[in-house]
Amino acid sequence: MSTIFQRRSVRSYLPKPVESDKIERLLRAGMEAPSAHNRRPWEFLVITDAADRQAIADMSPYAKMMPSAAAAIAVCVNLDLGGGGDLEDTWWVQDLAAATENILLQIVEEGLGGVWLGWYPDKSRVEAFSQRFGLPGNIVPFAVIALGYPDTVGCPEKKDRFDPRRVHYGTYGKQK
Ligand SMILES: Cc1cc2nc3c(=O)[nH]c(=O)nc-3n(C[C@H](O)[C@H](O)[C@H](O)COP(=O)(O)O)c2cc1C
Repeated sequence: MSTIFQRRSVRSYLPKPVESDKIERLLRAGMEAPSAHNRRPWEFLVITDAADRQAIADMSPYAKMMPSAAAAIAVCVNLDLGGGGDLEDTWWVQDLAAATENILLQIVEEGLGGVWLGWYPDKSRVEAFSQRFGLPGNIVPFAVIALGYPDTVGCPEKKDRFDPRRVHYGTYGKQK
């Protein structure tokens, strides 16, 4: 089965660090993503420090797994590269989403588990993160990925999600 079909959000991890060569391959995968005009407007912040991971957990009600993760990768946009300095020019959102998904797929390849935590456009999360980690104004955190070696007990079930009713052939509403 391909990596795409194996991937599921993993929110429970073993207390084991992730090797730096694996982290580098995750970042390489992120940087292989397609992007509008090939601008590659991303920057990545790798976070392993326990106090920093706890701080991230405190910024979002949906990031409770972060203290038990081995690391976090914040996928950030550099607006000077992606939005011409303008947050409203949001083609970069698609670029960053592609980079985030690439990292999640490489996480599977590395035998790790991870979960995409939504950050942008939640203002309070973006502000809290930017302040804690000293991001300059042109760098905006788009997503934070929690990752680590999966605790297999907590690994989610896989289920076929293919839904033919969501597919239209030639004209909307026309199905096979
Ligand atoms: C934009 C986005 C934001 C998400 N934010 C969170 C989050 O804050 N916390 C979390 O636990 N999961 C988050 N997720 C993961 C989703 O809950 C998960 O992908 C979804 O339930 C489907 O499950 P699966 O990833 O196992 O296929 C997010 C996913 C996306 C794409």
